[in-house]
Amino acid sequence: MQEKLQQLKNQALPAIASSKNEAELTDLENKYLGRKNGELTELMKGLKDLNPEEKKNAGQLLNEIKKELEEAINKKREELSNAGFAQAIAGEKADLSQPYLPKKERGHLHPNSIVQKELEDLFTSMGFMVLDGPELESDYYNFEAINIPPTHPARESQDTFYIKNHENWLVRTHTSSNQVRAMEKYGAPLKMITPGRCFRNEATDARHEHTFYQLEGVVVDKNINFGHLKAVLETVAQHLFGPETKVRLRPKFYPFVEPGVNGEVTCLLCGGKGCGVCKHTGWMEIFGAGMIHPNVMRAGGLDPQVYSGFAFGFGFSRLVMLKYGIEDGRLLMSGDLRFVKQF
Ligand code: PHE
Repeated sequence: MQEKLQQLKNQALPAIASSKNEAELTDLENKYLGRKNGELTELMKGLKDLNPEEKKNAGQLLNEIKKELEEAINKKREELSNAGFAQAIAGEKADLSQPYLPKKERGHLHPNSIVQKELEDLFTSMGFMVLDGPELESDYYNFEAINIPPTHPARESQDTFYIKNHENWLVRTHTSSNQVRAMEKYGAPLKMITPGRCFRNEATDARHEHTFYQLEGVVVDKNINFGHLKAVLETVAQHLFGPETKVRLRPKFYPFVEPGVNGEVTCLLCGGKGCGVCKHTGWMEIFGAGMIHPNVMRAGGLDPQVYSGFAFGFGFSRLVMLKYGIEDGRLLMSGDLRFVKQF
């Protein structure tokens, strides 16, 4: 028995090694290891006729040889398949001089983002930090903390979307919601802007959208006065609309500033002479601003006897419209690619 096994092995291994293709190899596999009439299988059947001592030795050898053959077959199979692949690509050449041509169309910035980035660059160059804040906001930060208590009539003009089953949650109506958040987090001195998306429950038209972008600025330190506010606003306006641009500040009420102003700039289309865009006034309203109200300072944890500051906010969706001559602001959020692709 042991002899027969050795013989089989001496025959099988070279045969496997020299097989030329997968079909030949499979034939050999069946010939020796096949479950039905495989030679090794047949020998295995003879084991039962041996005496116990021989049975043990022969059985062991048989298992070893079986394993050896299996390994040899697997190895050969892999070799053959690699060789097949090498053959298949043998005729092909890689052209290493071909430039890489990206096939995918690349996106670009939305006009809102372009203007936002420009403004961020301007303000960071003046030493402001750029902060983010939540769009889903609490009633507290959006209204109460900035001096708009629950019954205040100013809420009427800033109706928004409230969250079902969460009475105190709303989507922010302005970026002023970050004023107190920033004071709490950074204290004074503070010099920050916070741009972002805001929402109002509006009857929409060409100049009003339920979703729009604002940029808020806050400066707090000792001895900050109205002159500082005006200087910053002028710098921004001239940066945006050119060095000839003038700024006009007229009193306007906002609960979170005192005094508060409405900021206008000379119309960039007619240079102040009066035209359709500025409704023949020569001025365009773009800012709300003022000196921060003592109640807001206190809500932010700052002592209004020690510190003073100013805040301003403007809707930069409006600036985007002016910059690109967009007549209907609703296009900005329409998701219409024919529109967006023009920038
Ligand atoms: N939050 C005001 C608005 O949305 C703008 C504003 C900001 C006014 C800061 C004064 C100071 O209309």
